[in-house]
Amino acid sequence: MKRTIFSLPFLFLFILSLSNLFGQKTDVNTLLVNATSGEHKISKHIYGHFAEHLGRCIYGGIYVGEESSIPNIRGIRLDVLNALKEIKVPVLRWPGGCFADTYHWKDGIGPAKDRPSMVNVHWGNVTEDNSFGTHEFMDLCELLECEPYICANIGSGTVQEMAEWIEYLTSPAESPMTELRKKNGRDEPWQVKFWGLGNEVWGCGGRMDVDHYVNIGANYSAFCRSYPGNHIYKIACGGYGWRDNYEWTDILMQEGRSRIGFQAHAIHYYTSDGQKKTRYKATEFEEDGWFDVLQGTLKMEEILKQNVAIMDRYDPENKVDLIIDEWGTWHYVEEGTNPRFLYQQNSLRDAIVAALNLNIFNNFCERLYMANIAQTVNVLQAMILTKDEQIVRTPTYYVYKMFVSHHESIMLPTQLTCGDYTFGEDKIPAMNASASMDNKGKINISIVNADPEQMQNLECMVYGDKISKVSGQILTAKAINSYNDFGQAEEVAIKDFDDMQLDGDIIRLNVPSKSVVMIELN
Ligand code: AHR
Repeated sequence: MKRTIFSLPFLFLFILSLSNLFGQKTDVNTLLVNATSGEHKISKHIYGHFAEHLGRCIYGGIYVGEESSIPNIRGIRLDVLNALKEIKVPVLRWPGGCFADTYHWKDGIGPAKDRPSMVNVHWGNVTEDNSFGTHEFMDLCELLECEPYICANIGSGTVQEMAEWIEYLTSPAESPMTELRKKNGRDEPWQVKFWGLGNEVWGCGGRMDVDHYVNIGANYSAFCRSYPGNHIYKIACGGYGWRDNYEWTDILMQEGRSRIGFQAHAIHYYTSDGQKKTRYKATEFEEDGWFDVLQGTLKMEEILKQNVAIMDRYDPENKVDLIIDEWGTWHYVEEGTNPRFLYQQNSLRDAIVAALNLNIFNNFCERLYMANIAQTVNVLQAMILTKDEQIVRTPTYYVYKMFVSHHESIMLPTQLTCGDYTFGEDKIPAMNASASMDNKGKINISIVNADPEQMQNLECMVYGDKISKVSGQILTAKAINSYNDFGQAEEVAIKDFDDMQLDGDIIRLNVPSKSVVMIELN
């Protein structure tokens, strides 16, 4: 994998200009952005989402049914739909997660009243009535104008079942499956490019080891047919990030690649337990809970680095993509809620986690093609929380809104030199950042200050572009655990940011403590 670095003369000039400008000052943070060497596109799919039949993500969160008093379109809540449209959801993974490992798609087609029920064994043993199935999911994707990503059941399903699902959805030919689709109201085939070959097959998806998975995956893959007009992109299941499962990546790339013939390898990493393996409450925490969760988040960089290094070894031409199809915070559930529903509030800490991760993802965009935050509504690090007819846009939602400008833009290499945020005897870098240039030549730079107390001065220099105007937005709040709640004015929302000056080629910013700042340069 080719790395783009700053040229030495450029660095020399930059250091010279800084020392001229700032004399002996050493406590200033610097961000170099090289506008001349952007090569790789930030795929919009890095801003992808994940919606599982878990707790109130689908039922109540996204889907209320046509008879509901909550305004809906064909059963899909309008308030949630409209909010999600604003963050331009590019791709949606469904139906799980562990739920996918027990899902039999034929239970979710045809007249809703005739659909059989099942027990959702992974998520609270609640009854799943299958009223939200294949057609409803495809309808949701069409309304959101996003790409569907379906995770096939290779844990408890069969090869035939998966092959027929692909045929039902995407075949233009006349066949029993396409006749069934037409009978259920859909004449034209849909396009479903992204197919996951199993979910967490090392765990809830079948307790397989990697060798077993390579065999099973090859078998399923052989029956994933690309029908005319629909080219399938196969996503192989990776190991779990937290357990540093790089051996899985190695074997998958070395032996699985040719046998399974996948286009991407997908891993999961949750900031669930922080570095010290302690779980925290979503809104009641002190600085140890802030620091620990942010430190755990930054492990993502190491996980990506290690996976990319292995993939580079076996695929130097960069043909296989890397995907993180589940990530986010995993806190204690809100008191009084079903522990298997994974319902948690979402505070400023979650927003900082999202922004740190998204900056890391942008910087890895040469290999990283997609990332799906878990999960869209009411589960884990959600965009939206619902309570009956009310909805709340979470702090994480606002980060996604701020970062829309990075979608499909060219990543600009950056070099950030910053101080540390120290807590007790531990420390992490106080800041992280990423930059991109859109197709109109506009540069967007996203910056995080993880320090809960200290504002950070930042001197930002863009090499190779003349800047005449700077504008900005900020997401921060009074406290590290501020959050948005039902029936209350929002405590965490996007505001204009203007604590910066353009001084020749340098932008001087004061980045407030515990904040996410996005600046746009013209
Ligand atoms: O997102 C919740 C669960 O986390 C998913 O169902 C599973 O794949 C993962 O362990």
